[in-house]
Amino acid sequence: MGFMTGFEKVVRQNEPLAMHTWFQLGGPAEYFAEPESIEELAALAQRCHEEGVEARLLGQGSNILVRGEGVPGLVIHLSAPAFCGIQVEGHSLIAGGGALLGRTVTTAVHQGLAGLETLIGIPGTVGGALHGNAGTNSGNIGQWTLQATVMTSNGDIHQRGSDELVFGYRQSSLDDLVILDVRCELEKDNPHDLAQRMQKQWIIKKASQPMGHQCAGCVFKNPRGVSAGELIDNAGLKGTRVGGAVVSDRHANFIIAEPECSSQDVLRLIELVRGQVHDRLGIELELELEIW
Ligand code: EPU
Repeated sequence: MGFMTGFEKVVRQNEPLAMHTWFQLGGPAEYFAEPESIEELAALAQRCHEEGVEARLLGQGSNILVRGEGVPGLVIHLSAPAFCGIQVEGHSLIAGGGALLGRTVTTAVHQGLAGLETLIGIPGTVGGALHGNAGTNSGNIGQWTLQATVMTSNGDIHQRGSDELVFGYRQSSLDDLVILDVRCELEKDNPHDLAQRMQKQWIIKKASQPMGHQCAGCVFKNPRGVSAGELIDNAGLKGTRVGGAVVSDRHANFIIAEPECSSQDVLRLIELVRGQVHDRLGIELELELEIW
């Protein structure tokens, strides 16, 4: 177990990461841990810090592509109940970093709290959503967030209040090792109306984006408010293929991994799309997808 000696009960070696990501591609994590408690998580972080080993946090893997060679160091997954709670107190909703965003959104709606319903259909965890300020054209998680509890890479816990939280388009100031929990301040509304708004949003999403395929979210960020999907579509790239990776016909900012696809195919398709959009339209596309 090397530098992870003493953590045999929570740490696995050479864990395949493909099954932990939406793309279902890529190699293993050198070490992989699913801690049961905050104390156990802190001890793991401290050990990595002391040993100079990189630790990183994996959410639902819906915005990540793992390279074929896999990931060195420790990958942490917050699947234990201690990290996945969702509570409502008055106008506040407090969700664990490992809670699913979808479940958090529906909890808010059922409790008659408005704000998060525009996020329905976005995959991933609350921590992942906050880290990348997930959202749609009608709102993002950051705009409702008042406070976050984080764990730094040496295992310390801090509260980050609104004075420390800065959210931009698909980015946040939160770059600590772990987002432990998030407090959102929402608005009271009628649960029935909210549920209807949520359903409408869900139908629009289902109609405009690929579902039920092996893929992540949008691959590229929208440059200066222009739809990257529309640009890729205008460059004539829908259906373009490298090996088993294909630009979605439904929405050109999604890449579908067909059964024989490899991470390398997706990476080569990303470069091809980037190059073509640059050559044909003079626009440089920036990745939204994280490459591990
Ligand atoms: N369009 C095309 N061809 C395409 C895709 C889109 O012509 O292949 C056109 C649409 O017809 C529409 C316009 O582009 O007129 C905008 O499309 P859409 O409403 O799908 O929005 P988007 O800007 O492409 C953004 C987010 C999505 C989010 C949607 C809906 C980014 C990179 N994308 O897409 O977020 O779901 O708005 O609000 O910001 C994500 O970030 O992972 C993501 C999926």
